[in-house]
Amino acid sequence: MGGTGSVTVPPMAKLSLDRILQSQGVGTRKWCRQLIADGEVKVGGTPVTDYRASFETDGLRFTLFDDEWVYREHLYIALNKPTDIECSRKPSHHPGVMTLLPEEFNWRDVQAIGRLDHDTTGLLLLTDDGAFNHAMSSPKRHVPKRYLATTAEQVTPALIDTLVSGVQLHDEPAPLHASECLKVSENQLEIVLEQGKYHQVKRMLAAAGNHCAALQRISIGGLTLDALGLDEGGWCYLSDEQLALL
Ligand code: URA
Repeated sequence: MGGTGSVTVPPMAKLSLDRILQSQGVGTRKWCRQLIADGEVKVGGTPVTDYRASFETDGLRFTLFDDEWVYREHLYIALNKPTDIECSRKPSHHPGVMTLLPEEFNWRDVQAIGRLDHDTTGLLLLTDDGAFNHAMSSPKRHVPKRYLATTAEQVTPALIDTLVSGVQLHDEPAPLHASECLKVSENQLEIVLEQGKYHQVKRMLAAAGNHCAALQRISIGGLTLDALGLDEGGWCYLSDEQLALL
């Protein structure tokens, strides 16, 4: 550290207005140029009608049809997923998760980070940052995910022991175990998993002789649904501080 050498400041990203609009999910480049030519886009309160006008994207605000937009290079979103919603972008039996989000997120190819079953509720993260999605989904990462499970049969000390010691699922090479499990009430337990296998909580409960009647994800890493204060179906952008909790 120290020294008197010059400091290299990375150049700010400057993009033409049509590219900016397109990158934010406004629509095709042609449509974005049309909106600009029509005077529908204002920067600093002034309509900009030349699509070639370029702006630094960092912190850029503009209005489109008088709605304010803030430039975001990537989207990092938390959603309180309701039941009967599929996480897939091509849902087959229930509405897809994208129906709960603004249309421009669809244009930006936002994807769920991992999936919840259609009948599982709670914390779901979504992003258009492929590298982030990949890193978060990596089995090497061991991000703890906490679920609140409602069980058909009573929660017994033996059930908790079994889930923590590990249960063998028929298509898994080794037993899977909860990194934490605690009784919440006669028919509710909290279970923490570091893997994300298909129907994992439900299959582990079934293998341990119980049945999962309802399931809610209540946290991912240090990010809790409670702290986000989202109504069912509600969503929010995640701040850098919240992302660091993951
Ligand atoms: N485990 C399940 O069984 N379902 C989910 O949706 C998530 C974890």
